[in-house]
Amino acid sequence: MMFARLLSPYRCPPMKILVANWKMELGVRESVALARGVVRGLRGLKEVPHVYLAPSHPALTDVAKVLGRSRVLLAAQDVFGEVQGAYTGFVSAKQIKEVGAGAVIIGHSERRMFAGETDADVARKFAQAVEHHLDPIVCVGEPAAVRENGEALAYVHDQLDAILASADVSKRRRLIVAYEPIWAIGSGVTPTIHDVREMHRAIRERFEEAGMERVSVLYGGSVNSENVYEFVSDSEVDGVLVGGASTRLNSLMELIGVVSEVS
Ligand code: 13P
Repeated sequence: MMFARLLSPYRCPPMKILVANWKMELGVRESVALARGVVRGLRGLKEVPHVYLAPSHPALTDVAKVLGRSRVLLAAQDVFGEVQGAYTGFVSAKQIKEVGAGAVIIGHSERRMFAGETDADVARKFAQAVEHHLDPIVCVGEPAAVRENGEALAYVHDQLDAILASADVSKRRRLIVAYEPIWAIGSGVTPTIHDVREMHRAIRERFEEAGMERVSVLYGGSVNSENVYEFVSDSEVDGVLVGGASTRLNSLMELIGVVSEVS
């Protein structure tokens, strides 16, 4: 690794990424305690992967304080697609930025499902994130029936086209896309690495066609400490987006440990 780095810095694969999506699982105090545990756990480690913690909105400010100048990054779980105004209960990109988050999850399937978000909504959110210099973590992924019909690639392609048309992605410093097949979320079932690789390649190609080469493509859906190695050790997988297994300190640190081994 060292030798390769001396020869050419460009030959080293970029650091892998782990995004911990705590969904609505943890309270503010629990989020703070877990964030504290992560910061402590990473202390003294020379090389750590890019770790993003995504607590729910009420915990963002307190978790931001805990993360302070550590290497752990803060992400929000959602943002609204408008700049400002009479939008009760919504949160803007500017507000998210203000409380110290540097990234935001966009278009998660649970938001598409429970809040009725459409591709057009997701596109507006994406544009807001880009505009306010938040790293967008865009979620895409197909339902089970679409996969069974052999239409998963086309389905995800359409989801990507909606966001690609909405903002000038070529200016992005970091852009993250998470492939999360809906049927794999919280189910304990995962796609084969072959299917993940095929989808990740297709996502990357779509961005390259749009003139954007620096996209990181993560896998998400029932990732745990037993299966994480298989995903992150693959060159097509730049990291993982984890729900359930990221809400407990032990399993989160195990996941981070595996991801740093392959980074
Ligand atoms: P699980 O890891 O609990 O399956 O959730 C995945 C997910 O939705 C992450 O955003």
